[in-house]
Order: sequence, then structure tokens, then C-alpha cells
Amino acid sequence: MKPVRVVTLWWMLLLVPRLGATRKGFPEEASFYYGTFPPGFSWGVGSSAYQTEGAWDQDGKGPSIWDAFTHSRKGKVLGDETADVACDGYYKVQEDIALLRELHVSHYQFSLSWPRLLPTGVRADQVNGKGVKFYSDIIDTLLKSNITPMVTLHYWDLPQLLQVKYGGWQNMSLINYFSDYANLCFEAFGDRVKHWITFSDPRAMVEKGYETGHHAPGLKLHGMGLYKAAHHIIKAHAQVWHSYNTTWRSRQQGLVGISLNCDWGEPLDIRNPKDIEAAERYLQFCLGWFANPIYAGDYPQVMKDSIGRKSAEQGLETSRLPVFTVQEKSYIRGTSDFLGLGHFTTRYITERNYSSRQGPSYQNDRDVVELVDPHWPDLGSKWLYSVPWGFRRLLNFAQTQYVNPPMYVTENGASQKSDCTQLCDQWRIQYLKGYINEMLKAIKDGANIKGYTSWSLLDKFEWEKGYSERYGFYYVDFKRRHKPRYPKASVQYYKKIIIANGFPSPREVESWHLEALEICSINNYMLATEPLLSHMQMVTETVVPTVCALCILTAAVLLVLLLRRWS
Ligand SMILES: *[C@@H]1O[C@H](CO)[C@@H](O)[C@H](O)[C@H]1NC(C)=O
Ligand SMILES: *[C@@H]1O[C@H](CO)[C@@H](O)[C@H](O)[C@H]1NC(C)=O
Ligand SMILES: *[C@@H]1O[C@H](CO)[C@@H](O)[C@H](O)[C@H]1NC(C)=O
Repeated sequence: MKPVRVVTLWWMLLLVPRLGATRKGFPEEASFYYGTFPPGFSWGVGSSAYQTEGAWDQDGKGPSIWDAFTHSRKGKVLGDETADVACDGYYKVQEDIALLRELHVSHYQFSLSWPRLLPTGVRADQVNGKGVKFYSDIIDTLLKSNITPMVTLHYWDLPQLLQVKYGGWQNMSLINYFSDYANLCFEAFGDRVKHWITFSDPRAMVEKGYETGHHAPGLKLHGMGLYKAAHHIIKAHAQVWHSYNTTWRSRQQGLVGISLNCDWGEPLDIRNPKDIEAAERYLQFCLGWFANPIYAGDYPQVMKDSIGRKSAEQGLETSRLPVFTVQEKSYIRGTSDFLGLGHFTTRYITERNYSSRQGPSYQNDRDVVELVDPHWPDLGSKWLYSVPWGFRRLLNFAQTQYVNPPMYVTENGASQKSDCTQLCDQWRIQYLKGYINEMLKAIKDGANIKGYTSWSLLDKFEWEKGYSERYGFYYVDFKRRHKPRYPKASVQYYKKIIIANGFPSPREVESWHLEALEICSINNYMLATEPLLSHMQMVTETVVPTVCALCILTAAVLLVLLLRRWS
């Protein structure tokens, strides 16, 4: 379907002989580290509004760019799916918070739908009271359950009217609209919410939304639009941090940060300086793009150099990468109380040694080739390979690059193919165990990690992949009207990690695994028999009474006929 896949296959073929020659295992990474996390370490799960809530036009909510994108139904989403209903989360708040209690999490990370709170996106137009009440109730219920809310202000579902009127993040007027929206949230919820994330994974938002067009708003502004959108997003983040710092912090005592997703990029050949440079470029174009302005005041030098050079080669007078003024740099530097990191997988990186005839693009600007090791276990998504050691390297990289910031892991998890209705998700248990253990090693290395959010609470709408990939601890039966949830084995396993605050001893960790698998076989049975049970229920509740009623009626009619004949 996409060239990426073809290229992926080619990479794998390419990689087999090379890897054998250059790398043979990582002994220090292969060993499992038994130990516990620092006291007070926060364990959680996450989700986002558009992927789970449904109720897309209920109770005064305005449309988002994702409503518009999925409703245009032109093969944009696999199976032309929408999230109009999704997990029906809007109507299942109590039930879902009960699942959080069952998991024993200390925090829940979720996002607010901007158009649910502000139907047009603009605070001055209208605030939707029902939207405010909806989130307010969630926050209250969480706190009553002793679960800390961690709230993302913007997880991709921009109000559609801001797209239509202003061209979305292409337009710098969005900075003020976002700031107004954020201030409304601080005002309405900040007495109870102490952890704020301005944006989640803005890189994917701008790359897929304004470069490849795979995500809403579906624009393809090659090599231009994404940098401009990112520029405005970084400024919007900074403005919101400043308004929190000056207006709200003294009263509310909370934290405001950003959440950036990045895979680890490992040089293919660690003895080849070109590969080392390429891997550095990969990381700077991914994480540094947003983190460097926020922590050091400007875009990474390698981005400025590379995009500047390519822009000149393309005959442009100025770089396609926008420039911050001196005042903006000092305004933006230092505007994060913590660094949120999302991480899923790893790539080997090598320099691209062939020239490309394509025009301006992010891919061309980066000039790297990504490879995977065919021995890495691949999970439900095409791009997601389980490579736990890459997580430790990314955490250590962030720690040194941004000078030991407090960090929260805001997303980490694994998916499963949708046709797999298996609740005994051994592979997710392996992934969790491996990745959380590497995070523990990173803490021992000195990384200042405060909490971990596993992605995600429920199976949900996965953007252009529709419902074809399942990231949830809880399986959601999307085919049934009320979207019932069923615990997978990983629920039991994660819960044990949380309660033990790590991995106390080999014997204990081994027993968790066995217990989780025992429980899930029971649940599997339930899942398999539920449709049958509900069918039987239907039989007893409707078919039987109907048949009885018919019998009685027929008998009555016959009786009447008989009586007439006799009389
Ligand atoms: C931003 O929006 C305003 C108001 O609609 C418009 O006049 C202006 O041209 C837009 N700028 C860009 C770069 O789209
Ligand atoms: C944040 O607020 C504090 C207290 O008002 C102030 O001292 C500090 O300078 C502010 N920080 C920035 C970067 O503006
Ligand atoms: C480019 O790299 C590939 C794979 O490493 C190699 O087979 C090929 O010879 C290289 N081409 C050039 C022009 O260096």
C-alpha cells in the first residue's frame, strides 16, 4: 500500500548479513535486573479523547478535524472506520475508572477534547458547560479513587472550525486560541489537576497531518507545512507554560510539560562515523526538534544546517525551517517542568548513500535509512518491534541532552492484531517486563524518571489503522453495541509490578507470569462463550414468552371455535 512497506522488506534483506558481521549481542543488556523503583514512583495507564470517547456530536460538542477526516470516507482510514462511537467511553466513565482501580494504578493520563469544551475552538464564542461538567466529574471520580489525573490538553483532535477558518497550525493565530483554551482548563480543573501535558506527540501530528497527509487534516505541504506547524506549536506550548507560571502556579502548585514520542536510533555500525552522525540526525529530527527549543532555546544545529543546505539546493532564498528571534528563544527556553517521553520501538540507522530525486520533504532533510533486525520480535503493528534495550538508551540520551530533567514516560506499549481475540497476551507481558526493566536500569544509570504511563487502558481507535490494532490492557468487543471490556493477562502482570513497585525477586516474578496466564484462560473462555450466553438469554427472554403467548392465543381461539360449534 505504502512504499514504506516495500522499503521495510528491502531493509530486512539488507540487514541480515550486515548485522551478523557488526554486532553480536549486548551482554549487559541481556541480563535482567531485579530491584525496585524509587519510593513514590508513579504508575499509570493512558488514553486519548478521540480514540475512546465516541459521542462525537453529543451534548454540544463541536466537530474536530478527526471527525471531518473520518467522515469524508475516502479510504483515509482502514475499513473507513470512524471514532463516532469508539469505546463509548463518554458513557462509561464509572466503569472505566473501576478498571483503573482494578489495575491499582497511581495515575491516569487522558486528554481533553478541545471541541467538547469549546465547540468552535474559540473561548470567546462559547464554552460548553456540559463538556466542562463531563471532565470535572471524571477528575472528581479519579480523585475519590485515589488516582492522580494527568491531563493532556491537546491530543490531535483540533476543532474543525479552526482548521477551516485559519488553516489549523499553519496559522499563528492558533497560538492565542490554544492559550485561551488552556487557561480555561487551568481555571476549571486546575484546583484538582496538578500534572498538565500541553501536547502529546506533536511530531506525528505535524508529520502525518501536514506532510504525508495520513492523518487529519490530511495536508501534504511537502517539507514546509510541518515545520511551520511545529514552530507554532512550540510557541503555543511556551505561551501556555508562561501563563501557568505567572497566573496559576502560585495558587495551584502544578506542573506543565510536553510529551514527545521518539524511537531510539542506534547506529548500524558503531565503528562507522557516518552511521553515528546519521543516528544523531535521526534523534535530533525526532526528539530534538521540539525538546531542543524548550530546553536550549533553539532548533538543533544539525536540523538548521541540513534543512538550510537542502533549501538552498532547492533554490529557496530562506530555509524551510522557520527561525526564532532572540526574544523568542529566551521566552521558549526553560518552559517545561518535566519532559514527557513516549517510546515504542528502535531502529538501526545508517546514512542514505543514494541521492533522491524527490522534492522537499522531511525524509529528504533527515537523510537517513531506518533498518530493523529481522530477529526482533514484531508485534501487532508493522513498525513495532520489541527492542527493550533501546528504551534505556533513549532515556539516558534525554537525560544527558537536556541536563537531567524530571521525566515522565508518557506512552509505552505494544499492539496486537485485531483478529487475535486472545486475552492471554504473553507477548505484551514480555514487552512490559523487558521495557520496564530497562527503565529501571536507566534510573540506576541516573535518569530522573518520576513515573510511567503504559499505553493504553483500552483497545481503541488507532487513527488511520481504524480498529485493526489493539493496544489495550482491556480487550474491547467493538462488534457489540455496549462495547464490553475484558481484562487481558497483562492486567494481572502489570498490577503485580505496580504493587511490588518493580521486580523484587526471580521467584516472585516467575509466579506472576503463571498466575496471569491461569486467570486469562478463564477470561478467554468467558469471551468465547459470552455471545452464546447472550443468545441463550435472548431465547429465554423473548423467544420463549412469544411462543408461549402464541400457544395460549391459539388455544383460546380453538376453544372459542369449539364452544361456538357446541352451542
Ligand atoms: C491566518 O488566518 C487569518 C484569518 O483568517 C488570515 O487572514 C491569514 O491569511 C492566515 N494566515 C495564514 C498563513 O494562513
Ligand atoms: C515563573 O514564576 C516565578 C514566580 O512568579 C518567577 O520568579 C519566575 O521568574 C517565572 N519564570 C519565568 C521563566 O518567567
Ligand atoms: C549503499 O549502501 C548499500 C548498503 O549498505 C551498499 O550495498 C551499496 O554499495 C552502497 N552504495 C554506494 C554507492 O555506496
